[in-house]
Amino acid sequence: MKTIGVIGAGTMGSGIAQLFAQQGMYVVMQDINEALLERGRQGIEKSLQKLASKGKLPEEEAQAAMGRLTCTLKTEDLAACDLVIEAATEQMDIKKKILQGVDAVCGESTILATNTSSLSITELAAATKRPDRFMGIHFFNPVGVMKLVELIEGIATSKETFEAAEAIVKAVGKTPVAVQEAPGFVVNRILIPMINEAVGILAEGVASKEAIDEAMKLGANHPIGPLALADLIGNDVCLAIMEVLYEEFADSKYRPHPLLRKMVRGNRLGRKTSEGFYQY
Ligand code: CAA
Repeated sequence: MKTIGVIGAGTMGSGIAQLFAQQGMYVVMQDINEALLERGRQGIEKSLQKLASKGKLPEEEAQAAMGRLTCTLKTEDLAACDLVIEAATEQMDIKKKILQGVDAVCGESTILATNTSSLSITELAAATKRPDRFMGIHFFNPVGVMKLVELIEGIATSKETFEAAEAIVKAVGKTPVAVQEAPGFVVNRILIPMINEAVGILAEGVASKEAIDEAMKLGANHPIGPLALADLIGNDVCLAIMEVLYEEFADSKYRPHPLLRKMVRGNRLGRKTSEGFYQY
C-alpha cells in the first residue's frame, strides 16, 4: 500500500494522517470543513516540527512527511487510495453517508476502514457495496504515542482484507490485536466504564478530581488518571461510547452517569474545548 486516505482532520484523523506520512506513505486527508482541515494540517506540521526540534526526527524527514500529505475538501481525491480510513464524527448516520460517498468513487481494490471507537463494523460495512473489503482499524489517542491498533472484523470482512490491514499496521510500527466485532471492542469496553465510574465517584463527593486521578495513577499504575483521560479522549466521545454499550447490551451497568451528560451539555468536552474536568 502506497497511498492512504484519511477522512476527517480532527484529533484522530490528523494523528493517523501524520503517522502514515511520517512512515513514508502518501496521504490524502479529506474533510468537508475547510477551517478544520487547515487546523488539522497545521497540527501535523507543528507536531512534526516538535519531533524535529527534539531530535527525534531529522528535519528533512519532517519536511518530506509534509510533502507527502495532501489536504482536500473533495471525496473524489480519495479515488486512487489503496486504503481509506474514516475518522469522522462518531455518529452512525454521518459515517454511513461518508462511507457511501467514498465507496462510490474508489476503485475495486481499495480497502475501506473505519476508526470508530464503538459503532458496529458490520452495520457500517453494509452501507457500502464492498463489505468484504471493509473493517475496523482502531487507533488510540495520541496516535503518535499509543502502540496498539485494534483490528476489527465485521461479519463479511475477508481474510485478505484483514491480512492487508494487519501488514500495514505493522509496517507503520504499531501492534495490532485481532478483535471480533462487539460493542466497544476490547479497550473501550473496559476503559470507558472505568471513566464513567470515576465520574460517579466525583459526583458522589467521595473524592476530589485530583484525588481520584492520583489514586488511579499511584494505585493502578495508570499514566494519567481517569478524569484527565476523559478530558484527553473528549467527554462527548466517552458519552457516545457509553450510550452504545448501554443500548447494545441493555445492561444498567453501562448507564452513562448524569454528570457525564451534564459536562457534554455544557460543552465541557475536555482539552478540545479548553475545559472539561480540568481547565486547559
Ligand atoms: N502527540 C504526540 N506526542 C505526544 C502527545 C501527542 N498528543 N502527547 C504527549 N506526547 C509525547 C510527549 O511529546 C512526550 O514525549 P517525550 O517523552 O519525547 O518528551 C511523551 O509523549 C510524554 O508526554 P508528557 O510528558 O507531556 O506527558 P505524559 O507523560 O503524561 O504522557 C501520554 C502523555 C502519553 C498521553 C500519557 O499521559 C498516556 O499514555 N496517557 C494515557 C493515554 C491513553 O490511555 N490513551 C487511550 C485513550 S482511549 C482511545 O484513544 C480510544 C478511543 O476510542 C476513545
